[in-house]
Amino acid sequence: MTPPDGTGQPTDHMTLSETIRVLNGRRSVRAYSDKDVTDAQVTAILEAARRAPTSSNLQAYSVVVVRDPATKEKLAAIAGGQKHIVACPVYLAFVADLTRIEAAFRRHGNSLDDNNLEMGLMASIDAGLVGMSAYLAAESLGIQGVMIGAMRNDPEAVAELLGLPNRTYVVFGLCLGWPAEAPKQKPRMPAEGIIHYERYDAGMALGVVDPYNAQLKAHYDEIGKETTDESWSADVDRKYAQRPRDHLRAALKKRGFDFR
Ligand SMILES: Cc1cc2nc3c(=O)[nH]c(=O)nc-3n(C[C@H](O)[C@H](O)[C@H](O)COP(=O)(O)O)c2cc1C
Repeated sequence: MTPPDGTGQPTDHMTLSETIRVLNGRRSVRAYSDKDVTDAQVTAILEAARRAPTSSNLQAYSVVVVRDPATKEKLAAIAGGQKHIVACPVYLAFVADLTRIEAAFRRHGNSLDDNNLEMGLMASIDAGLVGMSAYLAAESLGIQGVMIGAMRNDPEAVAELLGLPNRTYVVFGLCLGWPAEAPKQKPRMPAEGIIHYERYDAGMALGVVDPYNAQLKAHYDEIGKETTDESWSADVDRKYAQRPRDHLRAALKKRGFDFR
């Protein structure tokens, strides 16, 4: 086990592997070269990702691979004009998908109508795990990118664009391409407030916020991004205090997810 030395980093060669090295080097990349990501590479990434665990082997997810520039333009618009969605050669949409479960229920005389929070959570977690697995598989090939949660800005418009049936929604997307930038890594909160041993320590958990505000401010100052002294706290408050995507529950209900 990695000793809790406060850095969260492996401390000796026994705890280093290629996968750990890849994860330790990861950061979101939003600019891509003209080089294509081939179909063979996408297949390799997704076949590896499909080895991700899923809740009770439900496999309650699907993936839509998008290359069509017109579709990416429309997805970028839904995501508030995120140009990297257009710029990336391949865009993966990770879909929470209850259609096959509904079919199984029907075969046995049951219905997925009135489904509950757990069904929606299981499908969303499955999509998240396969998405991160795909991201890591891509990174291992040198293909980099960024996840796009802004698909949830308008789940119905995304569903229509991608031809998604009822009982599905895009949890997030993933832009993939060959990097044309090497951004400095964004610091993480100090490990001692995030990783707990045996029992959660609320004091340690909250104690990292002030040091992190200072650390993140220093990072943003260095890369020339405007921020405040309360860098992380202020960002989080500004972005999320006013009930973000408050229409989401209603939109997902229309897509067949009750979440209650
Ligand atoms: C589920 C999820 C959704 C995200 N959505 C977006 C997004 O819509 N647009 C974007 O530019 N970055 C998005 N990101 C990237 C995060 O902003 C980024 O991971 C975070 O700021 C940490 O930076 P790093 O990945 O470079 O370490 C998302 C990340 C995750 C995990």
